[in-house]
Amino acid sequence: MAPWQDSRGRLAPLKAIAFAALFVPAAWLLYGYLARTLGPRPLTEIIHASGDWAIRLLFVALAITPLRQILGWPGLIALRRMAGVAALAYAGLHLSVYVADVSFDLGKAAREIWLRSYLTIGFVALLALIPLGVTSTDAMTRRLGGKRWRRLHRASYAIAVLAIVHFFWQSKLDIREPVIMAGLFLWLMAFRLLPTAARRGGAMLAAMAGLAVLAAALAALIEALYYNLRVGAPLARVLEANLGFANGVSPAAIVLAATLGAVAAGAARAAFLAIARRPGTGARALAPAARA
Ligand code: HEM
Repeated sequence: MAPWQDSRGRLAPLKAIAFAALFVPAAWLLYGYLARTLGPRPLTEIIHASGDWAIRLLFVALAITPLRQILGWPGLIALRRMAGVAALAYAGLHLSVYVADVSFDLGKAAREIWLRSYLTIGFVALLALIPLGVTSTDAMTRRLGGKRWRRLHRASYAIAVLAIVHFFWQSKLDIREPVIMAGLFLWLMAFRLLPTAARRGGAMLAAMAGLAVLAAALAALIEALYYNLRVGAPLARVLEANLGFANGVSPAAIVLAATLGAVAAGAARAAFLAIARRPGTGARALAPAARA
């Protein structure tokens, strides 16, 4: 089965669009490299961009399970494997370009990875991603059996933590994106802590809305603690900055908007389906399409 096909071998438009979209950042970087538009240090630029895409796609893969439940959209599951494998591919590109940046001196690359803790952490994350990528085929899933496969793939939670730490560590003073990642991660993990019975319906949406506020508050706290420990900024001042827009939209506000946005979309979809299912409603015919 090709990545753009469904289990019956037919073209699946959502999968086809997602598959093509995964190549866009790589194609853009290749174009930038060839056209010399990546600035004075193109390899550094590619290391950063490929790292960004590796972690973003890892998060997309982690977000699929909660989002398919929240949005009531089972079809999303078809994208999880694609996002996970793409995260591994971008992480592989990230390491390859890093090696190219040290003039393919493998000894130097290995020494740096061994000696610089943030690189060691990135390396462990990349190594741990490999078995997940290798076992993502249908044949391997069958061979491992559902239970063992799920247990193995739970490693993705720890990999995400390592990737976030790696991201924070190399960020120096601009920690907006790692803070956003940390907040979203907390929210995605919180979903997994909900009892299975509570992972559906209005109760789940209410719980996820409450957890969205909590994840945003924790993101603000993580940001404040980081600046406090790194440059001695008073905790209260960084936390206070989250309440206004003087420094632009804060990472915590972005976490809140993204997570509450997902909950609101899930609530709107549930409301639409409830209306559509009511006898005599003109929208009834649309309900099956909306569920697909
Ligand atoms: C052998 C493994 C790895 C090596 C050698 C490595 C190396 C690097 C280097 C050199 C940087 C730039 C640091 C700087 O300019 O100061 C970086 C940044 C980054 N890496 Fe890695 N990394 C590895 C694995 C990973 C993995 C597995 C992920 C994610 C899944 C990842 C995500 C990132 C991110 C998000 C950034 C920051 C990009 C930005 O600044 O926007 N890295 N890494």
